[in-house]
Amino acid sequence: MSEMDAQPPVSRRSLLDHVIALCGTVTGVALVGPAVAYLWPVTKAGPVKSREEVGDAAGWAPWTARKASIAGKPVLIVRTDKGFIALSAVCTHLGCLVEYDAAKKAIACPCHGAWFDLNGQVTGGPPPRPLPAYGVSEVQGKVFVSV
Ligand code: FES
Repeated sequence: MSEMDAQPPVSRRSLLDHVIALCGTVTGVALVGPAVAYLWPVTKAGPVKSREEVGDAAGWAPWTARKASIAGKPVLIVRTDKGFIALSAVCTHLGCLVEYDAAKKAIACPCHGAWFDLNGQVTGGPPPRPLPAYGVSEVQGKVFVSV
């Protein structure tokens, strides 16, 4: 007599219990899985991006800036001698709108005297973080910003 023969045979009732438990588990995953996927928070980058035209590149002089609202977000776009940059126009201190200072080639926040360089890095004042940067592209002479 081998060891396999020593184990009790699986009864029909036991097998049926296992099949019912497996079906219950599969049904539960099928019902709960989509609900969890729906409620799961969107990633930081987010799947949805808004891309909008902000002007003609040809008529945009170097070292000048424009503001735009893209998907409800204020954006500051500056043309430098190397191309375009787009940064959030919302100060990371308390949320005032920043301004481009052409004479200093920097970005100022009028509320509490903060300064940012054109990479969005804080160079003075109380803001705790840099200005977030957005993607800029130039297509057929038009400037587009993605937020
Ligand atoms: S809100 Fe910009 S420095 Fe305070």
